[in-house]
Amino acid sequence: MTEQSNGSGSARRGRFITLEGGEGAGKSTQVRLLVSRLEERGIEVVATREPGGSPQAEALRDVLLSGRAARFGPRGEAILFSAARIDHVDKIIEPALARGAWVVSDRFADSTRAYQGALGNLEQRFILELERVAIANARPDLTIFLDIPPEAGLLRVSQRRNGEPADRFEAEGIAFHAALRKAFRDIAKAEPERCVTIYALAPEGDVAAEIWREVETRLLEEAPKKSSRTRRKHAAQERA
Ligand SMILES: Nc1ncnc2c1ncn2[C@@H]1O[C@H](COP(=O)(O)OP(=O)(O)O)[C@@H](O)[C@H]1O
Ligand SMILES: [Mg+2]
Repeated sequence: MTEQSNGSGSARRGRFITLEGGEGAGKSTQVRLLVSRLEERGIEVVATREPGGSPQAEALRDVLLSGRAARFGPRGEAILFSAARIDHVDKIIEPALARGAWVVSDRFADSTRAYQGALGNLEQRFILELERVAIANARPDLTIFLDIPPEAGLLRVSQRRNGEPADRFEAEGIAFHAALRKAFRDIAKAEPERCVTIYALAPEGDVAAEIWREVETRLLEEAPKKSSRTRRKHAAQERA
């Protein structure tokens, strides 16, 4: 039984956290750290990612990231991302939230807004309408934007890649990545109640501590939790 369960079989809806940002910002790293920290609290967490996250959507991941989907043109490509998202929401995210589990996703709908926006030539209205259809009630409770100068992010990625070829988006030029960064910043500015931007050039542990502070203040303090003097002491030390 997780701590969200009230014991009568009907669980309190879980929380949905998404991590967004450019290539090499540290999303995958921070998802791992956040998930283990939530699990230490006794929370059931589903870690997932986009594009992909469910078997059907993972089957499209390679099509989307190899650039083959781009051959459908900007609208077709956006629709294919959304088709993958519909399956991910229906099969993984929504059922998890409904049973009271928390979901942490490495990228989600803001990536479509930002990437399609940065690529240009798609109406904002079209993107938002696709988003409405694809995500239905699965709106993130908290979105962390990991903000990094594109040059630094791309350098990290090329080091991580270790000789493997760049994917469809990594291969875009620096102007694209700068536009992407601006698009993420604009979303965060427009929706401050949901979004927080964290400077991602800092050491891994510092970024993790800042993310945790946001999760604690925005999501955990209102959730029923085990009272633990040690945890409060740790949190106080971290804040100091
Ligand atoms: N704060 C950090 N400082 C330095 N290197 C980092 C940091 N966070 C992640 N990395 C490294 O940078 C690379 C990209 O990180 P990753 O988490 O895969 O980014 P993303 O998922 O956003 O593309 C990895 O090799 C990772 O180990
Ligand atoms: Mg990643």
